[in-house]
Amino acid sequence: MAFVVTDNCIACKYTDCVSVCPADAFHEGPNFLAINPVDCIDCDLCVPECPANAIFQEDELPAGQEQFKELNAELSEMWPKITEVIKPLPNADSVNGTPNKIDQLIVE
Ligand code: SF4
Ligand code: F3S
Repeated sequence: MAFVVTDNCIACKYTDCVSVCPADAFHEGPNFLAINPVDCIDCDLCVPECPANAIFQEDELPAGQEQFKELNAELSEMWPKITEVIKPLPNADSVNGTPNKIDQLIVE
């Protein structure tokens, strides 16, 4: 079992989550973080840290967020680990809560 970063992280990327992860399971892309499901130890520590409430257990994903399970697995293999908190993206507070940011996800 692993936790999954979902839509509301996109374009926010607060990164508070990485400060508590004992497994260094987070990977950083341009405007989203992904959890490596192999590394995640299912500890739940990151969930309350996220100002965007974007992290859920894989079997408790909200409706419409199911695709993020596979996305986290794929993107975490592509992107480097992140273990230090960095500044959120510039418009994080204004787009926090905007639904369906998946169209803005930058995959590179
Ligand atoms: Fe890291 Fe625990 Fe969150 Fe998994 S549930 S990503 S191990 S803090
Ligand atoms: Fe994203 Fe929340 Fe972490 S917005 S970077 S999952 S603190």
